[in-house]
Amino acid sequence: MGIWRDEVVPRATDLLLDTAEIRRLREETVGGLRGDVVEVGFGSGSNLAFYPPEVRRVLAVEPSEVAARLAAKRIAASPVPVELVGADAQGLSVESSSVDAAVSTFTLCTIPDPGTALAELLRVLRPGGTFTFLEHGLAPCASVARWQRRLNPLQGRIAAGCQLDRPIDRLVAEAGFAPGKLRNLQLPGPLALRPFGYLYLGTATKPA
Ligand SMILES: C[S@@+](CC[C@H](N)C(=O)[O-])C[C@H]1O[C@@H](n2cnc3c(N)ncnc32)[C@H](O)[C@@H]1O
Repeated sequence: MGIWRDEVVPRATDLLLDTAEIRRLREETVGGLRGDVVEVGFGSGSNLAFYPPEVRRVLAVEPSEVAARLAAKRIAASPVPVELVGADAQGLSVESSSVDAAVSTFTLCTIPDPGTALAELLRVLRPGGTFTFLEHGLAPCASVARWQRRLNPLQGRIAAGCQLDRPIDRLVAEAGFAPGKLRNLQLPGPLALRPFGYLYLGTATKPA
């Protein structure tokens, strides 16, 4: 289990979340940001190529050493500086009200307590700062949601704790963010993959 979680999952994630469609959505998620950005679940740095030059630095939070190793080449090639500032989004070593933007992509599914992580993001954002997210989560279709619940135990074991049915927009609002834009979409693919591909692409702000 240790080797699977520590060695295989980060490499599989790096490959599976690198389709043309997902790259396009990554660009849409981070392409308009500026200033200091904290990114939780930085992984192998797959968003890095899409940060615009207006981003001054990315404060990365990532527990996986393998993912960090995979990220090294992207970090070296990036004009935007990256600083690894911690391993757990549930307790950020970042000053309160200090960053302009926060980012999470395909990570709120895996963090054990996403409410605590979101509260931390709210704390470190400056008032008026934006949280931008691209996540998979609870599908509105009852039969897909049923399958998400059924598959959760297996998915959690295979994918390092990933849960399929988190209601991302609700979690973000419950943490105290003011909801902004939200676009839901289903990734294309066979019916059997629907439980894995219901996406939430959105923004929310820290109330001033
Ligand atoms: C499915 S991967 C997504 C990686 C990357 N964000 C992406 O879009 O490709 C989930 C990431 O969350 C990280 N993660 C897991 N628990 C975490 C935590 N408590 N705090 C921060 N990151 C965490 C994992 O190590 C992994 O890199």
